Amino acid sequence: MSDVAVHDASHQAQETNFQARLDAEDKIEPKDWMPDAYRKTLIRQISQHAHSEVVGMLPEGNWLTRAPSLRRKAILIAKVQDEGGHGAYLYSAAETLGASRDQLEIDLIEGRSRYSSIFNYPTPSWADVGAIGWLVDGAAIMNQVPLCRCSYGPYARAMVRICKEESFHQRQGFEIMQVLASGTAAQKDMAQGALNRWWWPALMMFGPPDAASVHSSKSMQWKIKRFSNDDLRQRFVDATVPQTEHLGLSIPDDALKLDKDSGHYQTGPIDWDEFNEVLNGNGPCNDDRLAQYTKARTDGAWVREAASVFAEKKAASVFAEKQGASV
Ligand code: 3HC
Repeated sequence: MSDVAVHDASHQAQETNFQARLDAEDKIEPKDWMPDAYRKTLIRQISQHAHSEVVGMLPEGNWLTRAPSLRRKAILIAKVQDEGGHGAYLYSAAETLGASRDQLEIDLIEGRSRYSSIFNYPTPSWADVGAIGWLVDGAAIMNQVPLCRCSYGPYARAMVRICKEESFHQRQGFEIMQVLASGTAAQKDMAQGALNRWWWPALMMFGPPDAASVHSSKSMQWKIKRFSNDDLRQRFVDATVPQTEHLGLSIPDDALKLDKDSGHYQTGPIDWDEFNEVLNGNGPCNDDRLAQYTKARTDGAWVREAASVFAEKKAASVFAEKQGASV
């Protein structure tokens, strides 16, 4: 058998064994053999997830100095801080696959990578902070809980802690909406206005319809994605409509109806042109968000430099100590 044929046969055997491990619900760890395509799609998804967490700090960060009370300010600071931590967790998970955080950040700034469409919308009122916690973090939980069972170990483990914190994020947002919706007429209008702004972008957050999803079939075969975009979107709608009724608000969709046979709510058509426009950089806040992300990264360069010099010096002194000790 030629060398090429031997190589192909052993590669095929590795692929077959890899899929058998996934089908047996094994966790794949950083040092395990994995197909390049599996590694590549994980770096793609995890890095974009990390970018989303960090850019996701910006819309709410805009309200830190204007929160209506000290209590609200303290809760919002904790939430925004959590998101930064989620980003750090996820960049670390991407680094276990051989990616460099520096390069991932540069890829985002230079347009080779993305963050979630949802963070390209403005937050003109305090109620938007409530709607983001309730709807955006609520949608994130729907999408992220299954990721706790992702086949790649470091990603799955990072998601366990992240999902626990997302639950607090969703509850604090819903509480803001509850207070406003049961407040004065002006407060209820503010809450309804935020629901009108965030409902459809929250549905788009789950990704394109299954028929247009380029990664789903492979991601599901590799047990990265456990449910399809449409399945998770449907779960979110079914969970959120009753919550909206409890708030006494109305979902901005005249076509929304409960399908008695399936027990699911059917929404009107989602504007995928808007989704694609936002993905192409033409959303209401794309330029601002990327400019703020880039400025924060540039302004923080000295911190990264100081930290790496400190780490090098520390490593050198530990090494010297060990050398000294062994003489
Ligand atoms: N925003 C931006 N891009 C999106 C998107 C969205 N809402 N939905 C899909 N896309 C992109 C995909 O990245 C892909 O483009 P790419 O090839 O350039 O990466 C393309 O659209 C096709 O979509 P697919 O469905 O084929 O892609 P995936 O299989 O990757 O599914 C996903 C998309 C469901 C977002 C999946 O990547 C995922 O589950 N990611 C992890 C969760 C995540 O990133 N959530 C984002 C929000 S994080 C958050 O909300 C933080 C919270 O604290 C508020």
